[in-house]
Amino acid sequence: MARTPKSFIREILKVTEDPGIISFAGGLPNPALIDVEGIRKAAAHVLCEDGKTALQYSTTEGYLPLRKFIAERYRKRLGLAVSPDEILITNGSQQCLDLIGKVFIDRGDHVAIERPGYLGAIQAFSLYEPIFHPIELLPDGPDPAMLDDVCSQYPVKLFYGIPNSQNPSGITYSERRRQEVASTLVGTRTLFVEDDAYGELQFSGNAPASLKGMLPDQTILTGSFSKILAPGMRLGWVCAPPAIMEQVIIAKQASDLHSNYLSQRIAARYLADEDLDAHIRKIRFVYKKQRDIMLLLMEETFPASVTWTEPVGGMFVWATLPKGCSAMDVFTHALREHVAVLPGTPFYVDGGGDQQIRLNFSNSSEERIITGVERLGRVIRALVP
Ligand SMILES: Cc1ncc(COP(=O)(O)O)c(C=O)c1O
Repeated sequence: MARTPKSFIREILKVTEDPGIISFAGGLPNPALIDVEGIRKAAAHVLCEDGKTALQYSTTEGYLPLRKFIAERYRKRLGLAVSPDEILITNGSQQCLDLIGKVFIDRGDHVAIERPGYLGAIQAFSLYEPIFHPIELLPDGPDPAMLDDVCSQYPVKLFYGIPNSQNPSGITYSERRRQEVASTLVGTRTLFVEDDAYGELQFSGNAPASLKGMLPDQTILTGSFSKILAPGMRLGWVCAPPAIMEQVIIAKQASDLHSNYLSQRIAARYLADEDLDAHIRKIRFVYKKQRDIMLLLMEETFPASVTWTEPVGGMFVWATLPKGCSAMDVFTHALREHVAVLPGTPFYVDGGGDQQIRLNFSNSSEERIITGVERLGRVIRALVP
C-alpha cells in the first residue's frame, strides 16, 4: 500500500463538490445527458417482471443478453468477431484494471504505460508492484522508437494504452501509430491492454480501427457504460481471448463473485428498449459544443506561450504551461478564483507533469465553461513569467 499513490482526483473531487466551484478537475459526464427517465422505466420493468431473479446471486461472467449486446455492437461498430464468451461484465472498467493486475503482474514485472498515463491504471497496477516503463505520447500516439526500445530491452508483460481520446491528454492514435504498436508487439509475449472507455465518444467520422482487430490474440480490450449510460451503474467489461478470460474469471470470483446483477439487468432492458445510437449522438453533439467553447475561450484568454491538445472526442483537453509556470501554482491560484483544474503530476510514473494541467469539458455547462476559462486565463496570465 505504501507504494500505491492515493488518487489525487478523488481528493480534489471532495473540494469541488462545492457547487460554487467551477470544476474542470474531475472526469464526470454531463448530468443533463443521463437518461434518468429511460433508466427508471427499465428498472421498473425489471423489478415488476422478474424482480426475484434480478435480486438473486448470479454468474461471474455476467448477464448473457448484456454480453451478447456488447459482442454484437463490437461486430457492427468495429468489425470485431467476438463471442459473448469472451466478455465478462465488471464493476466499471476500473475493475478490469485491477483484475488484469491481479492476473498478470507479479512484483518486479515490466509494464509499459503511456506518458502521461491514466491515473486509475497507475493506481490499480501499482498495487501489484510492477516496474513501469513510460512511453512518451506524441501528438498522434505512442513514440514507436521508445516502445520498440523498451520491448527489446525488457520482458514487458503488458503495454497499457488508450488509443481513443486518451485520459489525460485527449490524444487519439493515428492509423499509423496503431499499426506501429501492432507491429512492435505482434508475435511477442507482450499483451496490449486496450482501454476503450471513450471509443463511443468520437465527435465525427468513423470509429478508428481497434488494436483488438490487429492483435486479436494479444489484446485485452476493456469497455464501459459509464460515459454512455451512467457511471453510477458501475458497469464495464473486459473482452479477452478464452485462455486469458479463464484466469480473469477466477480473479473476479475471488474479488466479488459477480458484478451488481440488478444493474446489469436494468442496463440490458434499457438497451433493448431505447435507442442507444440516438442517445450517443446526443452526447457527442453536446460534448463537441462544450469542447469548442473551451478551446475558443482558451485561444482568446490564455497567453500565447501556453499550448494544448485539440481532442477529437472524449472529455479532456491537456494544456502545457510555459517554463517557470507551475501547474501546482495554477491549481492553487485558480481555486482561490473558484475554478478547479487538475495538475499533471499524478499522471507521470517517473516525475514530470508540473507544467501540465488537465481540463475536463464534459461536466460544465457552456456558461460555466466561459466563466471558468476566463478566470483561468487571468490566473495563468498573472503567473506566466
Ligand atoms: C481511461 C479510463 N479507463 C477507465 C476508467 C474507469 O471508468 P469506469 O470504471 O467508470 O468504467 C476511466 C474513468 O474515467 C477512464 O478515464
